[in-house]
Amino acid sequence: MTTIVPLRPGDEAPESPFVPLAEASRYRSPRATIDPDQTKSWLVRAMPVVKAHRFILGTCVVGTFLALVLQVQIPKMLGRAIDVALDGRRGSLGHYVAIIVALAVGRWILNMISRYLLQITAFRLEYDLRHIMYEHLSRLSFSFYDRVQSGQLISRANSDIRSVQMYLAFAPTILAQCAVAVVAFAEMLTINVPLAIVAMSTMPIAFIVAVKMRERLFPMSWLIQSRLAEVATVVDENINGVRVVKAFAAEERQLKLLAAASRRTEWANAEDANIRARWSPAVENMPRLGQALVLLYGGWLAVHDHASVGTIVSFNAYVLLLQPPFRLLGQLMMMGQRAKASAGRIYEVLDEQPDVFDRPGAVDLVTAKGDVHFDGVDFAYPNGTQVLRGFDLRLRPGETVALVGRTGSGKSTVARLLGRSYDVTGGAVVVDGHDVRDLTLASLRHHVGMVADEPFLFSISIRDNLAYGRPDATDEDIVAAATAAGADGFIRALPEGYDTVVGERGYTLSGGQRQRISIARTLVLNPPILVLDDATSAIDVQVEQQIHEALRGLLAERTTLIIAHRLSTISLADRVAVVEDGRVIAEGTHAQLLAGEPRYAEILAQVEEEES
Ligand SMILES: Nc1ncnc2c1ncn2[C@@H]1O[C@H](COP(=O)(O)OP(=O)(O)O)[C@@H](O)[C@H]1O
Ligand SMILES: [Mg+2]
Repeated sequence: MTTIVPLRPGDEAPESPFVPLAEASRYRSPRATIDPDQTKSWLVRAMPVVKAHRFILGTCVVGTFLALVLQVQIPKMLGRAIDVALDGRRGSLGHYVAIIVALAVGRWILNMISRYLLQITAFRLEYDLRHIMYEHLSRLSFSFYDRVQSGQLISRANSDIRSVQMYLAFAPTILAQCAVAVVAFAEMLTINVPLAIVAMSTMPIAFIVAVKMRERLFPMSWLIQSRLAEVATVVDENINGVRVVKAFAAEERQLKLLAAASRRTEWANAEDANIRARWSPAVENMPRLGQALVLLYGGWLAVHDHASVGTIVSFNAYVLLLQPPFRLLGQLMMMGQRAKASAGRIYEVLDEQPDVFDRPGAVDLVTAKGDVHFDGVDFAYPNGTQVLRGFDLRLRPGETVALVGRTGSGKSTVARLLGRSYDVTGGAVVVDGHDVRDLTLASLRHHVGMVADEPFLFSISIRDNLAYGRPDATDEDIVAAATAAGADGFIRALPEGYDTVVGERGYTLSGGQRQRISIARTLVLNPPILVLDDATSAIDVQVEQQIHEALRGLLAERTTLIIAHRLSTISLADRVAVVEDGRVIAEGTHAQLLAGEPRYAEILAQVEEEES
């Protein structure tokens, strides 16, 4: 019996007998997310994430600021101490030494605290950004993954998140350091106004030179990022495609590709180093110029008795103290540009909307009878490939129907539409009288068990792979499913049986073994609707025969769509539907079709030939 629990729009926690099987998550969700308003600037959009950490970040900024305020006092004290010493009043020198030591210790402690907190904030921001990104990625539809390159995505999830996180965490502290420059300048003004102006005169130049350098560096840093992503893509494909590469003895060609990508990265890095080499000395030597000016003008003042030696010494110290904030400001601007570019790339993913989602008021499919109706379905992939036109097929509860058609005729597409990997562009897929677009994705996918043509296994134990869809499955359930899929025998023969950890994507197993595990994994779910997409194509005919014996009983209880080439598999079906030109051109039992539909025999002959 089908029970549908209607949801009123706005219901907070729907009372539904459908219990999702996913494990309860134990991770801490990010406390905020990126502002979805695309008209806002990148920084404003990131603000909610930063604000979630405002207390700890605020403490860092205040700590840094106070530490620097203490530091700014040191040159003044130094100057006074020297003046006192030159005066010959030795007695009070110890007093200044004590003050300077106290200032240094205070600054040390404050620095220690704020640095620690700053690193913590940086990591928390990174954690949040990663989770926001991954949560979003997990919501995106198949159409998105059809389009993107995984190397690019991985690079976004790593280096781009890092550059945004660095900026968000460090910018406030750097700004606090710059604010200290203002405090220091005020201090200098109270000591000697003309000397303060001379001492500050090189700062704007230092700043402008630093900005000019960053302007040249910025396009390079952008280029480096994108070239690193290029390298990541080549490496990713080489590693994931290593079996194909080796099969075609194409290692050299792949190496050449990688070498080309690396060389482009090397060029960009060398160009970056070149710009730095030309500009950095100017930026770094600007303080020396400032010092020279202070000594020149301050010396003149001292000679004419307008300033004390202590004043000159403290101004000399100020000039050195003031340079880093100005340089940091230049660096901050570059970090800002880089973070902006990175944020742009991250937002590009975050702004991507899933095109298959639960519509408002979607209902849960609770217990499905398994009545499936493809009702005049039209479908084109988002890239424009029109696959189905007026596809009509009805599967009654408990019925097993085989789809037969040439390669590329759209059989796998039909399977994907049933599980709503994509939404139809016309007509409807109806399960138990409900358009699948009116059902929640989780409940639909829970009832439609899909065995794909290319099984993907995780690098975990076979037992965990089998229980993937139902983590609470008992060992008996798992063994029963494995037995039905003809997998129990070979699993027990493995060194560690069900506890054997399979290699990446299950490549330590044969194609047929992987397919059997993949079938068993879906059988553990015990779905009322089952789709087997070429699920036994890599399994030997004898083994397939055994699986069929076991499956026959299981299929009788559920609605099954079998996509098949082999006559042996087709014989499992009550009925055969022939797919051609995006629709069902004929339906009937195998015998009926052979007798009455010349195109059926033709297609069968062709697919069988392709397989052998
Ligand atoms: N993700 C996709 N994006 C765009 N086109 C696709 C995608 N998957 C399959 N196609 C195209 O759709 C058509 C039907 O594919 P498919 O359903 O896999 O055929 P079959 O399973 O019958 O061999 C083919 O022309 C194929 O190129
Ligand atoms: Mg296919």
